[in-house]
Order: sequence, then C-alpha cells, then structure tokens
Amino acid sequence: MGKSKILVVGGTGYIGRRIVKASLAAGHETYVLQRPELGLDVDKLQMLLSFKKQGARLVEGSFNDQQSLVDAVKKVDVVICTMSGVHFRSHNLLLQLKLVDAIKEAGNVKRFLPSEFGMDPSRMGNALEPGRVTFDEKVVVRKAIEAANIPFTYLVANCFAGYFVGNLSQLERLTPPKDKVFVYGDGNVKVVYNDEDDIARYTIKAVDDPRTLNKTIYVRPEDNILTQNQLIQKWEKISGKKLEKISISEQDFLASMKGLDFAGQVGVGHFYHIFYEGCLTNFQVGEEIEASKLYPEVEYTRMDNYLKIYV
Ligand SMILES: NC(=O)c1ccc[n+]([C@@H]2O[C@H](COP(=O)([O-])OP(=O)(O)OC[C@H]3O[C@@H](n4cnc5c(N)ncnc54)[C@H](OP(=O)(O)O)[C@@H]3O)[C@@H](O)[C@H]2O)c1
Repeated sequence: MGKSKILVVGGTGYIGRRIVKASLAAGHETYVLQRPELGLDVDKLQMLLSFKKQGARLVEGSFNDQQSLVDAVKKVDVVICTMSGVHFRSHNLLLQLKLVDAIKEAGNVKRFLPSEFGMDPSRMGNALEPGRVTFDEKVVVRKAIEAANIPFTYLVANCFAGYFVGNLSQLERLTPPKDKVFVYGDGNVKVVYNDEDDIARYTIKAVDDPRTLNKTIYVRPEDNILTQNQLIQKWEKISGKKLEKISISEQDFLASMKGLDFAGQVGVGHFYHIFYEGCLTNFQVGEEIEASKLYPEVEYTRMDNYLKIYV
C-alpha cells in the first residue's frame, strides 16, 4: 500500500507547520490549505511558498466557501487539522465543524485528525471555567466526527515543550527564570513534556497505521514523564545555577485567577489541572495506544537536550 496523500488545514500554524514538515520528510504527497483570507500577511504567504519549494502542493480553500473545502478534501486520503486553540493567540476550534461537514460530503477520507494535540478532552468533563471551553469544544468536534462515521485518530500530545519546558513551566514567560522559580504545590506531580517536532513525527506515523484507527493515541514517552522539580533540576544542572524555589499552594494558585483577563484565566485553569491534579498522568495508558511504544524507531527528544538551547 502506498503512502496516503495528506492535507494539512492550518498548516502555517504553530504545530501545523511542523506537521507539514514531518509529512514531507516522511515522503507523503502533502497538500496545504491556502486561505484567501491571508490577505497581506506576507509571512504566512512566504511560509506557504517555502512549503511549496519543499514539495508541498498548495490548495486554495476557505472556511467561508464550503465547496472549496469539499474540493480540497477530495484530493487526499487523510486530513489533519491544526486549527487554532490557544486563547492568548487565537481560538477557532468550532470552525472545524465545517471541515467535518466537508469530509462527510466528500466521502473519500480514510482518516481525519482534528485539532487536538493537548490533553484528552474526554477526561476533562469536570474542568474549571472558563478554561473548560477548550475541552468542551474539542468534544463537540469529536462527536460530530463520530456521528458522521468519519474514521479518526485523536492525538493527545500533552505539554508542548515550547510552552512548558523552556520556561520551567512558569506562566507568562517562555524563557527560563533567572533567580526565582514558582513551584506548583510540592512540585512532585508527574507531567508529560514533548518536543513539538516529535509530536509532528508521531502524528504522521499514525495516519496510515491500522492500529490507530478510531483510537485516541497518547504521546507519553517514558523519559519525558517528569515532575516540575525534575525539570527544574535538569535546568539547574545545565545552567550551573541554583534557583530559589517558591512553592504556591493550590488555594493561592486558584485565587490568582481573579482579576486576570479571559486568556489568563484559561491558562491558570489548564495549569491547575496539569500541575496540581495531575490530569496528564492520573490514568493508565496501554502500550497499544502510546506513541513511543507504537513507534520505537522515533528517537524522541529528552528534555535535558531540549533545554540546552536556552543556555
Ligand atoms: N499541548 C500543548 O501544550 C498545546 C499548546 C498549544 C496549542 N495546542 C493545541 O494545538 C492545536 C493547534 O494550536 P496552534 O497553537 O498550533 O494554533 P495557531 O498556530 O494559533 O493557529 C493554527 C492555524 O489555525 C488557522 N486559523 C486560525 N483562525 C482561523 C480562521 N478564522 N479561519 C480559518 N483558519 C484559521 C490558521 O490556519 P492557516 O495556516 O490556514 O492560516 C492558523 O495557522 C490546538 O488544538 C491547541 O489546543 C496544544
């Protein structure tokens, strides 16, 4: 069986661009949606043209033109959507319902991977307001996919390293703190950190794999299951500098939500579930649905290596 043709919707986005790269590297015929709405966004256009130079095919299509989505989808076997879902950037997860309709109408798609790439929304039924909107909307999209009988794979990526590792899991910064680091509770809750390029590689591995059909796949590689304390220790070893640790109690952390804008409140809620409740690791994942076990040939990035770039 040949490699499937893949369409990436949201290909210029943060995770989308890595998925386009991984798809090309794995030798898939790769299509990327080019939306006319990009207007004068020259950076977006240049990125699309650079994909084209690397062998991708650009397909024009718009979420305001349903037929154009159907036509785009008809060209491929697999659709991967990386629609925006981070409140402080852009958040349009429910637009995917139009894509689900297009896939249903086209009728040819063998696998759809919606914009997930985070926590498992099906386990977040008791999540805090207002951050629960992310999980609720992802569940709405899942239900639409399943109601339309579209073959799917949901990829649970856990914490993207760019958002959670370089900053030692501090809110409101992306680089390592210089002197003091805030520690969530006792800092011993297990978290899963992943390099985004590894997420992209696992995503592409999954698209043609019968073992991942209609399944949720978790990216939980053994060496990247770490506590916040372990992450801080790795950084202290690499940087050669000890940081002052300031523990934040659960109550104080939750209270810090007050007075923040909407995106800030969403962020605090998500961090709470990850670092206090342990929502990424408080359930078992069998080997048959864990990405590093399914694809042991992928040399995944360990977080001490990842952190070296921040020195
Ligand atoms: N696990 C983690 O730590 C983590 C961190 C961040 C995000 N995520 C998840 O990853 C997924 C993707 O997020 P991201 O940060 O990569 O997204 P992003 O870069 O903010 O945006 C991705 C793409 O969404 C498309 N888009 C945005 N608004 C649109 C609109 N009005 N109409 C049509 N398309 C629109 C754009 O596609 P074009 O390329 O066509 O312009 C954009 O490039 C989300 O589900 C998010 O929850 C997870």
